[in-house]
Amino acid sequence: MLKPEMIAKLNEQITAEMYASNLYLQMSAWCEEQGLSGAAAFFRQHVPEELSHRDKFIDYLIECDAPVTVGAVAAPPTEFKNLVDMINKAFEHELKVTALINAMAEMALDFKDFNTFNMLQFFIAEQREEEVLFRGILDQVKLVAFKGETGEAMYLINQYLQRLATTHSH
Ligand SMILES: [Fe+2]
Repeated sequence: MLKPEMIAKLNEQITAEMYASNLYLQMSAWCEEQGLSGAAAFFRQHVPEELSHRDKFIDYLIECDAPVTVGAVAAPPTEFKNLVDMINKAFEHELKVTALINAMAEMALDFKDFNTFNMLQFFIAEQREEEVLFRGILDQVKLVAFKGETGEAMYLINQYLQRLATTHSH
């Protein structure tokens, strides 16, 4: 039996994953508006990935015979200064998700809830991957001295994100 506090956290994470999915959807749509089709494809690819995370938490709760509560999802921001601002916001958001996952893992250990701790290993590895991915993008942004302005650097980063969208295997 899962502890009520653990069930509450797992249910909150369902909403957090839906928020992440909607955030990437909004980012993708913004990129499309700006003509950044490569960046749009990259962010769009994250949309179903986050929904698959949501489903993993739902399936786990069902397996544990624990109640599933789908909460309200806050609207993501619609305004972004430029593509650099967006990449930074996406990276910061992934760091927030990492903190949520880590807090759940800590709670699972406190409760000696080894099944939940084990289930969370997937997400611990996943967050590490996401952080590596976004750090890699920010490295490229620095490499071409991209500050968000229209021009060759923006073209290159858009191309780079397009390549990531076609090779990144989630
Ligand atoms: Fe996620």
